[in-house]
Amino acid sequence: MRIAIIDDEEIVRVRLQKALAKEGYTVETYGSGEEFLNAVERSPVDLAFLDMSLPGITGLEVLKEAKPRFPEMEIVLITGYSSIDSVIDCVRQGAFYYMAKPLKLDEIRSLAAKVHDRKRLLDENRALKTVLSPVDGWGAMIGVSPLMKQVFRLIEKVAPLDCNVLIQGESGTGKELVARSIHRQSRRKDRPFVAFNCGGFTEELIASELFGYQRGAFTGATATKIGILETASGGTVFMDEIADMPFSMQGKLLRVIQERQIIRVGANKPIQLDVRFIAATNKDLKKAIQEGRFREDLYFRLNVVQINLPSLMDRKEDLHLLIDFFTQKYSTKFSKKISKVEQSALQVLLSYTYPGNVRELENIVERAVALAEGESITSHDLPPDLREYSITQYGKWLTYEEQERDYIKRVLKFTEHNLGKTAKILNLPRTTLWRKLKKYGLS
Ligand SMILES: Nc1ncnc2c1ncn2[C@@H]1O[C@H](COP(=O)(O)OP(=O)(O)OP(=O)(O)O)[C@@H](O)[C@H]1O
Ligand SMILES: [Mg+2]
Repeated sequence: MRIAIIDDEEIVRVRLQKALAKEGYTVETYGSGEEFLNAVERSPVDLAFLDMSLPGITGLEVLKEAKPRFPEMEIVLITGYSSIDSVIDCVRQGAFYYMAKPLKLDEIRSLAAKVHDRKRLLDENRALKTVLSPVDGWGAMIGVSPLMKQVFRLIEKVAPLDCNVLIQGESGTGKELVARSIHRQSRRKDRPFVAFNCGGFTEELIASELFGYQRGAFTGATATKIGILETASGGTVFMDEIADMPFSMQGKLLRVIQERQIIRVGANKPIQLDVRFIAATNKDLKKAIQEGRFREDLYFRLNVVQINLPSLMDRKEDLHLLIDFFTQKYSTKFSKKISKVEQSALQVLLSYTYPGNVRELENIVERAVALAEGESITSHDLPPDLREYSITQYGKWLTYEEQERDYIKRVLKFTEHNLGKTAKILNLPRTTLWRKLKKYGLS
């Protein structure tokens, strides 16, 4: 990521440059707006820290000039003294953020990181549009949280190894997406990926689905049927809800995995099998083993590598990114121009707890994008019970300042607006009290 610093004070330029270069960014500095505009014309930057009061053309003029031409460049304005009017003006002209001097390096660094994340997301989204095949509709996996980064590293590591994998995680955490990513990054990627749900079928049905059957194997078998395992030859079989597989069937599956061959129902000649097994469950398999519902030997066969997906609440850092990602995804899908989520709606989305994890979040955003009328998602586009949830969560809490205002008001009432007494009770210098009264509109 390339960053420009535009400030007439050399000391500011040097300080920022050092701090940001240390983070691994490429940093350029300019002493005036003209210099910067000339340079950016030749090669645009991703982020600019722009001083408002420059000699020559002002920061605001630079902003007005540059933003429309380079809409993807984020501009952070630096103000010498904070004057609300000019700040509002700047934000209206497209400034990403503003900061008052003296600058805090921590803030600078975290802002740069924020822009970096956003830019990455945009890039990913762009890449995704080309990756997302309309055929299967499965795309990239998103996440910046430490837990998800760990998952991504593990996927990269096991994908080329061709070993069986067991994926565990609550419902909606992305188990199938992980299985598909592993397949896509493996040498089997050009062969089929076949998903099979192990729950809700009788043993007979599962056997004929998985292994296929020979013509005449049973009444109604009028033609030979190729089973799922054979169809997946050379590719990957995803055994979903593995904990729900009937116990007797588990033994058959174990033999298939061990011997790498299958026999169609009603046939006697074995067929060689070349597939990779990835199994998934949202249940506790260890417990199922203890209760005698799941075979331990099958567990060890499948569990060569285990990937545990964290619930969405254990990776809140990903929420914002996922919201943006799904907004973009469904905006494209529905041919709409929804580019952002309004603050009030974002507040609601960020405070909900998502028992259905990413799948639930995705459904909520999909619905919101479908309903949204303008260019952004508002809180009215969210399910009503979600809005209420957010209100009961936060409705009873006051901010620190609201609390302070309330308290001062109560003391004022008690002293009948005697400022001397009030200051004494609050143990505040009179000037401080006076400032607070003004701030809270109590004077
Ligand atoms: N990290 C992620 N980034 C982007 N999309 C995700 C992510 N995790 C999950 N999804 C999306 O959420 C939805 C649910 O994911 P998936 O079906 O893989 O979950 P699951 O764990 O198999 O859920 P279930 O237990 O309900 O079958 C899918 O549409 C998937 O694309
Ligand atoms: Mg699933």
